Amino acid sequence: MKILGINTSPRQNSNCRIALEKALDTAKAEGAEVELVDSNKLNIKACQGDNYCKAHEGKCAVDDDMQQVYKKIEEADGIIFAIPVYFFDVNAQMKLVLDRLYSYFQFPFTETYGKKKVSFIISQGTPDPDAFKAVLQTQFKAFEFLGFELADFVVLTDNNVPGAINDKEDQLAQVVEVGKNIL
Ligand SMILES: Cc1cc2nc3c(=O)[nH]c(=O)nc-3n(C[C@H](O)[C@H](O)[C@H](O)COP(=O)(O)O)c2cc1C
Repeated sequence: MKILGINTSPRQNSNCRIALEKALDTAKAEGAEVELVDSNKLNIKACQGDNYCKAHEGKCAVDDDMQQVYKKIEEADGIIFAIPVYFFDVNAQMKLVLDRLYSYFQFPFTETYGKKKVSFIISQGTPDPDAFKAVLQTQFKAFEFLGFELADFVVLTDNNVPGAINDKEDQLAQVVEVGKNIL
């Protein structure tokens, strides 16, 4: 079983990344093969809206680092995204990846690459875990359209300080569950 983690936070000592590492370590301890990708370190351009993918079996024409991410997604059994909230929504790095997954829309993704689970770990500054939930859930509808099965949607709050999660037993325990449920 292969589990892919995609961290979209750009910063050092990122709470998203720490949470994702914990979830992946848990999955690994349960026997999974795991890989963590930092999307901010990759050259991922925005979707060009050319619809090339619609005439080419879900393949995207943009020749950049997203091509290696597509391959990793296709080979994974489960994917965990770790995403910071920027201005009431997912950050721009996540939106780049999300829009590029449009290439799989109206393509038999599940039939071709198998049924996959997906989980979302969100980190935000605001203490209210429900503050942006409606917007985030709308963003993640895309994965339902593609045929993914939602495993977890966890919101980690009050994390403005880099590495703040390290002192939060409750949040670390939550992401351990994410690592178990993705299997
Ligand atoms: C540009 C920017 C916009 C942000 N907007 C919000 C916001 O709208 N709501 C919120 O709760 N936190 C917001 N934050 C705080 C981050 O969501 C929070 O620090 C998060 O834990 C960052 O995750 P990271 O440590 O993995 O980078 C913002 C941070 C930045 C840099």
